[in-house]
Amino acid sequence: MATRGGFSSRLGFIMAAAGSAVGLGNIWGFPYEVGQGGGAAFVVMYLIFCFVLCYPVMVTEIAIGRKTEKNPVGAFNALGFKKWNFVGKMGIFSGFLILSFYNVIAGWAFGYVYEMAIGNFAIADHFSEFVQDVFKVGAYGMLFMATTAFVVSKGISGGIEKAAKFLMPSLLIMILLIVGYSLTLPNAMDGLKFYLIPDFSKLSSEVIINALGQAFFSLSLGMGALITYGSYVNKKENIVSAAAFITLADVGIAVLAGMMIFPLIGFMSGGTMDGVGSGPGLIFVTLPQIFGTIGGTFGAIAGTLFFVLLCFAALTSTVSLLEVPVAYVVDEKNVRRSRAVWLVAGAIFLIGIPSLLGNGYSDFFSNFITYPGSETATDFLSFIANVANDTLLPLGGCLIVFFAAHIWKKHNLDEELSHGAPNYKGSFLQKYLNFAVGYLAPAVLGFIFIITVLKTYFGVDIF
Ligand code: TRP
Repeated sequence: MATRGGFSSRLGFIMAAAGSAVGLGNIWGFPYEVGQGGGAAFVVMYLIFCFVLCYPVMVTEIAIGRKTEKNPVGAFNALGFKKWNFVGKMGIFSGFLILSFYNVIAGWAFGYVYEMAIGNFAIADHFSEFVQDVFKVGAYGMLFMATTAFVVSKGISGGIEKAAKFLMPSLLIMILLIVGYSLTLPNAMDGLKFYLIPDFSKLSSEVIINALGQAFFSLSLGMGALITYGSYVNKKENIVSAAAFITLADVGIAVLAGMMIFPLIGFMSGGTMDGVGSGPGLIFVTLPQIFGTIGGTFGAIAGTLFFVLLCFAALTSTVSLLEVPVAYVVDEKNVRRSRAVWLVAGAIFLIGIPSLLGNGYSDFFSNFITYPGSETATDFLSFIANVANDTLLPLGGCLIVFFAAHIWKKHNLDEELSHGAPNYKGSFLQKYLNFAVGYLAPAVLGFIFIITVLKTYFGVDIF
């Protein structure tokens, strides 16, 4: 452990892993997916996926990481199944893709710190111009990537852990304050109804695919990020309870983000919920408006503080995304950490350029692909998000649990999980996890993966 570094405390790991999970996915992604995916019906699917399928995947990832003390590729090798390390390689590839577009959105959030500070609430109406100013938002993105690289270069306990411990609780408080405010606004209840009362006629294969992708993305699963974080975890740590806490924290913040956004949309639309499906720009349009209604210096302070904290939430996530390929290059290719960090970060920034250009600046990347059976074109950023979040992550998760239960074998997984959890063996949770990891998760994830590929890339909808 000494040369690789490790988390200095129990709380440090939980905070860092929760920091990885909580990010733009919760505050930017979740409300926009709910808005597009039919409201509460999406929320219900998302919750089921998180607790029933994703929690077992999370436990498995952390256990593999702690057992092997390796990056996702090295982990499969270390367990003696070199043939399976393609799962780790696929994870590293997914991480590249995700960070490349994630950093673009983080750049927007970063830019909004300045806009709020100068009281430019009218940016709500100029969001599309803002994202087309590619040199400006590109510079913000570059700064964001550089900050991420700086934190990762400081190593595990020095950088990642310290930042997360203090920032996560601050974000939670800020969100609670905004939730409190937005619930008092006129028509807030129309927003809540959309958000919380399910209309199951809205369920479709698309809603299911997006809800699963969102669950994986939000919990940072399916690409070995938690194998990597798990590799820095102490044997005394109770993995099953840590994973439960991380899942609850992540789902909790996403649910609160919805409680913050949907009443605001109810208020601004006078109860019609117009604009709720507006897509990736959702929080960048609604939130400045709300800080505008608070107005003046106080609105500017609240807006600035919110986007500063959002940037920090994004940072603890980008750090985990960058950590995975860096750990791989450091462990397997014997590159010095500091050098690996800057090389990988630079490469990912470059891969992100089409995602940066595809928001109206470049016609080609803005209308990058038209899926079979669809009338409208999809931009590059959304395309990459579909490939990574909705396709590769659930596939990765499916292969990881299948591997753990049937190749590495369940009794080895159980053995690893019982370190730090003396009552685990023989418990109901153990029985459930054995069933979920062995059968339920591989079957359901495999099935949804097939539906996803057919529907998204071939336009065949079997429902
Ligand atoms: N979970 C983060 C979010 O919600 C994003 C993220 C960080 C991620 N690390 C990941 C997603 C690993 C998938 C895999 O913002």
